[in-house]
Amino acid sequence: MTALEAKQEIERLTKELNYHNHLYYVESNPEITDYDFDMRLNRLQVLEQNFPEFASEISPTKRVGGDITKKFASIKHRFPMLSLGNTYSREEIIDWENRIKKSIETKIEYVCELKYDGVAIGIAYENGKLVRAVTRGDGTSGEDVTANVKTIKTIPLQLQGDYPKDFEIRGEIFYPIASFHKMNEERRENDESEYANPRNLASGTLKQQDSRIVASRGLDCFLYGIYGEDLPINSHFESVLKAKEWGFKIPVLAENYIHKTDSIDGIMEFIEYWDKQRENLPFEIDGVVIKVNNYEAQQELGFTAKSPRWAIAYKFKTERVETLLESVVFQVGRTGSITPVANLKAVQLGGTVVRRASLHNADQIEKNDLYLGDSVYVEKGGEIIPKIVGVNLEKRAANAHKVDFITHCPECQTELVRREGESNHFCPNEKACPPQVTGRMEHFIARKGMNIDGLGVETIVQLFQAGLVKNVADLYTLTFDQVVNLDRMADRSANNLLQSVEASKQIPYERVLFALGIRFVGETVAKKLATKFDNIDLLAQASFDELIAVDEIGERIAISVQSYFLEEEHKQLIEKLRLAGVQLQGVKKELLSNKFEGMNFVVSGVFSTFSRDELKKVIEDNGGKNVSSISAKTTYIVAGENMGPAKLDKATKLGVSILTEQEFIEFLNN
Ligand code: IVH
Repeated sequence: MTALEAKQEIERLTKELNYHNHLYYVESNPEITDYDFDMRLNRLQVLEQNFPEFASEISPTKRVGGDITKKFASIKHRFPMLSLGNTYSREEIIDWENRIKKSIETKIEYVCELKYDGVAIGIAYENGKLVRAVTRGDGTSGEDVTANVKTIKTIPLQLQGDYPKDFEIRGEIFYPIASFHKMNEERRENDESEYANPRNLASGTLKQQDSRIVASRGLDCFLYGIYGEDLPINSHFESVLKAKEWGFKIPVLAENYIHKTDSIDGIMEFIEYWDKQRENLPFEIDGVVIKVNNYEAQQELGFTAKSPRWAIAYKFKTERVETLLESVVFQVGRTGSITPVANLKAVQLGGTVVRRASLHNADQIEKNDLYLGDSVYVEKGGEIIPKIVGVNLEKRAANAHKVDFITHCPECQTELVRREGESNHFCPNEKACPPQVTGRMEHFIARKGMNIDGLGVETIVQLFQAGLVKNVADLYTLTFDQVVNLDRMADRSANNLLQSVEASKQIPYERVLFALGIRFVGETVAKKLATKFDNIDLLAQASFDELIAVDEIGERIAISVQSYFLEEEHKQLIEKLRLAGVQLQGVKKELLSNKFEGMNFVVSGVFSTFSRDELKKVIEDNGGKNVSSISAKTTYIVAGENMGPAKLDKATKLGVSILTEQEFIEFLNN
């Protein structure tokens, strides 16, 4: 392939894939299958690797991330990013509307919108290409988060239609509620602290240094304003419709996310509607925004120092109740982390009865300055977990006792530790602290782990207390007689239990890895590790560098995996599981042949019949091994077009044989 051909194909694929991306994510109306999309993306990736000089800044390959930002550069906003005047009172909305009517003589139109609860962003486009994305910062300058924003699939990299040459579009990046729950569920499973609300998670995600992490997280964005000089637009509503034409995802008109009206009644109806309906939205809002539609009228009204006079936010009150803090208990998790939980006098809040609230950690208790018997204010944080937001000091009894954080584990009395940089206290007695031992077992038998459904939490506790099971490997040596004598067990349930223990020996290696409960190794990480390390011994021996070379595995996980396998107790556990017949290695892939057995290949350059990944797969399917760099151990180099001169040089020096694509195909077929 010549450079010119590569350039043309890169351009064609970039355009084509950006178009299909828009159809899929913005229009929800794809024209090609996911498989076709992935194949083309793959091809583009290969071409870009070989001809990096032609890779465009708006390439759809940027969507998968990969760029690392060590420190986000500070960028001055071309137009300051102001905030909105806001109110919780409907009267003030009426006053605002009256003021507008007094200053503007012509008929006034308003646009009512949702006030998305996320992170504000300004995205600049030049000649239809996304060039920069900057956070609000202090309103005058913000942080350059372009690489991360490019991974958000609903934000176009290349515009279509009659877009202005140079403009900025502003909006709110947010985390959909469903993805937020999924994320927290994963963190709970890993015994990591949960995100308080979708907004914190969105802002934390946007500031990640590794854009691949951002790409994997499912952020979304709604846009609410266009800024530029000499724009071919006369009103806000028109700007929204134009934005749609250019390829942006805009608020859904049919769902009443945005509504045009010319009266205060229309405004009030919108407020009323969303105050009731907001709980059913797939994302969070904290109010609605009312804007004067016409740009000329906006200009006439102008700005105060901080905010436009032509817009106002009506914020919804978060429901808050007052109740009694009866006691604080401390729970011990599977990894020994201590969570303080407040027991409250039962109270109605947002349609449910609330009896408990998480206090998270010692700092939170300190911050709230809690005393036992306090009358506390409770809100639903992010509409999800109730939290204590303050204390009614007037009601505090003179002799009340401060809530002290415990110094010793409530379950095993071991002195607690607080590791540097962590906000939680831990009980270090992981081997014998009962809830830690049984917690690990519960995790082991859970549906996503070994799926031992004949065994419940209560039985685990009984087995542990009876001294029959000290760790998960002991489950595999239980006998019928041992089990049938437990409380509430009969012949049938005992048999069920033993059968489901037996069946768990078929659970695949990657799930066993997850079930072991290695800190920070959730479902996804376990899968990645299992794919890279064919069996548990290879994983146990993996060096730090080998571990962090795996996609999405960082230092924290690598350290945790290594320390797990260093423990003598864990080594013994693995041996017992092996003896029991639990799957500790991946299923051997069916080979098409063993033609390449014992051979090491280096694949380099661009090929015409295969993509590079396809070629590597052919090698592995026939028993060969792919290695990344040329050494004396390399058997063959398969060289496509444009193999670098340095590689060629090295190959010649080491006397490694070089196969062209055609020679490789002949070799395979003979
Ligand atoms: S218009 C001059 N529209 O609320 C400000 N803002 O305090 C123009 N926000 O930082 C902003 N939804 O991040 C506007 N539909 C919406 C909005 C919205 C959320 C945020 C925005 C801004 C803050 C204003």
